[in-house]
Amino acid sequence: MTRPKKLKIAQTPTPIVEASRLSQELGILLRVKRDDLTGSHLSGNKVRKLEYLLAEAVTLGATHVITCGGVQSNHCRATAWAARGLGLEPVLLLRTPLGERTDLPQPPTGNVLLDLLAGATIHLCTPDGYRERDARMAELADELRSQGAVPYVIPEGGSNALGAMGYVEAARELVEQTRERPPTSVIVATGSGGTLAGLALGLREAGCPAPAIGMAVCDDQVTFETIAARISDEAQERFDLKPYEPDGCVVIDRYQGRGYALSTHEELELLKSTALRDGLILDPVYTIKAWNGLLDLARSGDPRLGDRPVFIHTGGLFGMMAASQQLAPLLGQGAP
Ligand SMILES: Cc1ncc(COP(=O)(O)O)c(C=O)c1O
Repeated sequence: MTRPKKLKIAQTPTPIVEASRLSQELGILLRVKRDDLTGSHLSGNKVRKLEYLLAEAVTLGATHVITCGGVQSNHCRATAWAARGLGLEPVLLLRTPLGERTDLPQPPTGNVLLDLLAGATIHLCTPDGYRERDARMAELADELRSQGAVPYVIPEGGSNALGAMGYVEAARELVEQTRERPPTSVIVATGSGGTLAGLALGLREAGCPAPAIGMAVCDDQVTFETIAARISDEAQERFDLKPYEPDGCVVIDRYQGRGYALSTHEELELLKSTALRDGLILDPVYTIKAWNGLLDLARSGDPRLGDRPVFIHTGGLFGMMAASQQLAPLLGQGAP
């Protein structure tokens, strides 16, 4: 493997904690790797990807960083702050929710509040317009170039081979931290595929036979299998990584509930009960769906999970702050 240049912006290694009460109930060893603790405003899984992506941006002399995502994108917020910390100008293309308002939430909440505080230039688009996101970001980059700026474009979720290197490294870190009781599977929420692909490649590279299991929060199994395979090919070519074995990367798409960024009552109840039982805060858009899937596989004795699964907590707390209306009815006394 050849190691690309990276910056040090994530607080790593992140700790691994046991969800002891749940472990007991399920009769397995369930551990959580706390990648929600990679920082504060710069936190979650995206920061590991940005260490590599922004190192390239700096090498190329970038003045601006352009990326895209949903209006409450954790990736966009992390990119905006990482760029700001390097003296680069963040430019975000944000997708407004289907059939809802087409402007920014007023007052700004969650990730949007932080995007604005980072001074990001925000371009909004509808879900239809977002289908052409790569072309739209290329246009924004052309406009900036015509003004003498040097833009660096990061694809949705930072999900290309270079970004995935952040999770190749996270897998190595995880394997080193669990030498005494190696994982039998590694589970992660999957929204654009880069974290899953990086984990699968990294586990293989570290000689760990556990599969990386991606719980899709949008799109379907074939979509993410195709994305992961594409990232794997690119990583082989660019960084001389071994491809993962066919059963080393599993995508499960049946835990999306009502769809992307929509919650079911059961998911929100699980979010609350997990907080009370294990002291873990999961977010409604990504991690609760993956966690729900993990618990369901554990209860049904799915052999792909094994008895020592490790869940990657990828963050999302700021997105949850924008979901207070959904969560308030569950909270009882004191809620509006
Ligand atoms: C909190 C959280 N978890 C998981 C993911 C999914 O990661 P990936 O886009 O690499 O599939 C994201 C991505 O947006 C995220 O914000």
